[in-house]
This record gives sequence, C-alpha cells and structure tokens, in this order.
Amino acid sequence: MNDIIDFIQTNRDRYVAELTQYLAIPSISALPEHKGDVQRCAEYSAAEMTRIGLEHVHVVETTGHPIVYGDWLHAEGAPTILLYGHYDVQPVDPLDLWETPPFEPTVRDGHIFARGAVDDKGQVFAHLKAIEAHMQKTGRLPVNLKVVLEGEEEVGSESLAPYIRANAEQLKADMVLISDTEMFDRGVPSICYGLRGLAYLQIDVRGTKGDLHSGTFGGAVANPANVLAHIIAQLKDKSGNIKIPGFYDDVRPLREEERNEFKRLPFDEVGYRKMLGAPRLAGEKDYSVLERVWARPTLDVNGLLAGFTGTGAKTVLPAKAMAKVSMRLVPDQDPVTIAALFEAYVKKIAPKSVEVTVTNLHGGKPWMTDFDNPYVAAAGRAIELGFGKRPVFTREGGSIPIVADFQAVLQAPVVLFGFGLPDDATHAPNEKFTLDQFFGGILASAFLYQEVAGVR
Ligand code: BES
Ligand code: MN
Ligand code: MN
Repeated sequence: MNDIIDFIQTNRDRYVAELTQYLAIPSISALPEHKGDVQRCAEYSAAEMTRIGLEHVHVVETTGHPIVYGDWLHAEGAPTILLYGHYDVQPVDPLDLWETPPFEPTVRDGHIFARGAVDDKGQVFAHLKAIEAHMQKTGRLPVNLKVVLEGEEEVGSESLAPYIRANAEQLKADMVLISDTEMFDRGVPSICYGLRGLAYLQIDVRGTKGDLHSGTFGGAVANPANVLAHIIAQLKDKSGNIKIPGFYDDVRPLREEERNEFKRLPFDEVGYRKMLGAPRLAGEKDYSVLERVWARPTLDVNGLLAGFTGTGAKTVLPAKAMAKVSMRLVPDQDPVTIAALFEAYVKKIAPKSVEVTVTNLHGGKPWMTDFDNPYVAAAGRAIELGFGKRPVFTREGGSIPIVADFQAVLQAPVVLFGFGLPDDATHAPNEKFTLDQFFGGILASAFLYQEVAGVR
C-alpha cells in the first residue's frame, strides 16, 4: 500500500486539475436543455474509466439519461464490489448567489466550488482516482469491481431500477459501495446506516378558465391561491404533526438504544443553527434535532406558484395555483401508500369550487441496515486509515432511492462511505468539496479496496 499512498500524495494537483474538467460539464439531469451535456458527461466518465484501466466500459442508453458501466474482474477468489455513484447534478438556480459560476470550478481557501463538487461527481471521482492509483502502482485491483454510474439520481433514478432488475446476474456482488453522503462533521468520519425515503407530489388548483379582474369578479368565485394556501395549512397542525390520516401508521418508533447512540454523537446544536442562519430551530418537540432529521418523517412545501409576483400591485384573481410538496419517509413507510393517502386527503379537503389535480412526481423507499457485517467493518478500518479517526455510525435525512433496490435485488450489504461535510451547500449556491475531504476520500477508497480483499 505504501507505493499507492505515495502516488496519491504526489498527484494531488493533477487530481484537482482533472476534477475541474469533470465538474465543468453542466450535467443537470432535470433540465431538457442540458440533455446533451448529461450525455457528454456520461461519455467523459466512460472515457476516464477506460483510461484508468477498467474493462467492458460502455454507455447504456435509456429512455432518460445514460448509465455507465465498467468492470475489472481478475481478482480471483476475492470479493466483488459494486461501486455506484451519479454523474448528474442539480440545477444551479438562483444563479446570482454563486460567488463564482457553477460550471467554472474554482479553488478558494482549500475548497473546490462548483455544482456537483461533492454531490456526487467529486466523490465518484475520488473513487476513480483510488482505482487509478492501484492500477498504476500494481497493475491490478485487490478486489473484483463493477462500476455503475447513473445520470438520473437527482430526478428519481427511473431508468436505473429496471436496469438493475434486468441485469441482476451481471451486477452480482458481495457488497455495494456508495460515496454520496456526508461525514458527521470535520474530523468525525462516519458510516451511514439509514436514509430517509421520499414521496414527492404536485398539487394543481384551477378556479376559472382564465385570470379575472379581482374587482369585477372578486367574491363570486374561489381564488385558487387562497384555496391552495388553505389546503396546505391543513396538511400539518401547529405543533408540526402531519394531519394526513394514516400517515404515521407504519413509522417504526426509535429504539431507546438508538436514541442513546444519537445522544453520544458530538452534535453542536448552536453551531448547527448558526451554519443554517436560522433565528431558531423548529420541529417536533419530543425529538432531538438528529432524531428529527434522521428518523422522523416530514412534509414540506418545496415550491409555490400563483398569481402576480412582479413589482407593485396588480388586481387579479389567478386562474391557477400550484404547489410542490415532498414528504421524507422513514422505515417502514412506503412511498406508494403515502402518495395515495396524500392524494385522498387533499381531494377530501378541497372545496367543490375549484378543480384539484394531484400528481405523483417520484418517490423512494427509506432504507436502514444492520451494520454488523464484515464489509462494514472493512469500510470502518479504511475510513480510519484515510481520515485518521474511527468512524461513528449515523443515519441521514437525505434519500438515495436506489439503495433499497440494490439491497433487494442483489441481496448484498450496502455501505455508505461518504466524504462530504454538513456545510457543503449541496443543491444550493456555492456547493463545495473541501479538498482535504477529497484527498482523504481518495486515500480511504484506496484502503477500502485493500481491506475488502481480506474479507471472506
Ligand atoms: N446525495 C444525495 C442524498 C443525500 C444527501 C444523502 C445528504 C445523505 C445526505 C442525493 O443526490 C440526493 O440529493 N437525493 C435526492 C433524492 C431525490 C431526488 C429522489 C434527495 O435526497 O432529495
Ligand atoms: Mn447525491
Ligand atoms: Mn443530490
């Protein structure tokens, strides 16, 4: 391993230069005008995978964005790792809040700023560099490796789930490895054993066939903006309880031991509040902050649209109003069931004076695993070797819907081996990846491939 470590330490500048090129591709999966860029990013990923020595590299076209596959299967008798990541990124709006343009990666104060820096192109790239280091120094990998990168994670992984089912035999592995999460904190490496799921819906309210003069007609018809606000107001009560009947039925209560584990983590609530710039934190009163974001379900409006929003005043009754609402789910809630409960409730509380449409945009199952297995132990040793500290075990509030599919179809343990930090501003302006986390991630990944070779 010493040669490999030295190689990684001496190649840092090249890694940053190459990552800069990768991040410069605006692979925004949600926006149709970036379809060509997403394709280009898939091809760039494939070329890089070939260059570092992976085999059978190919770009799989789908009805959405491509999947990239590559492997190296010559470690006879050693375990097989399936490495998953995503090369697509979130939209960049609001653009004016970026200090430097999102697709002109810039290094400032030891961080690289760009959309996708940490979520997830930078973390994927760390693995590619760890693989490259093994290949360069030893001509081989200590394990068998299959790499699957997708371009639709940020829009619901629609093509990947069927791809996994259709290629279950080809993708067979002893462990699924994913670096698309955060560390608990700077200097506190972690392994994540639980993710929340998601149900994401849109409510459209229509009142009349067109906008109306609010003086001429105001009072005679329902205003969709008012109606929608009232519907939203009835989704939660004052203390934050979600009022959809049946919503909590399948929520698995937190175990006392788990609550105690959470309490032992070095969580700084004041620092957290300051990082977020919130006057005060909010949430369910019987739960701690970590419990609220890791182990409790939520319901949040993600976007609202109605009526006149320009400068000044316009007297108008809007014909339509729209809201995007997402719910983070915890074990054992099911996104399909929750979406149905949501739709039934919204339809029930909507007045007859408007037409209400509820559309299910996408969803994902929550995931939680037992971390008592040799692959998690190997990952724990590797992260300690890479970051100099033993990891803590955490859950996370975000979602990676495909994780549940991997576990179900491949029947292999999934290890979430993330290098991000809580203040990376993922999905927001000025997303960054701290370079020490990037380099530590390359080292930890290189160690992981070595550590997993010894499992069996
Ligand atoms: N990498 C994130 C998920 C994540 C973030 C997990 C932080 C743990 C900690 C992923 O790219 C993501 O953003 N997922 C979406 C899923 C959705 C689009 C289906 C999410 O959580 O909103
Ligand atoms: Mn991600
Ligand atoms: Mn994301």
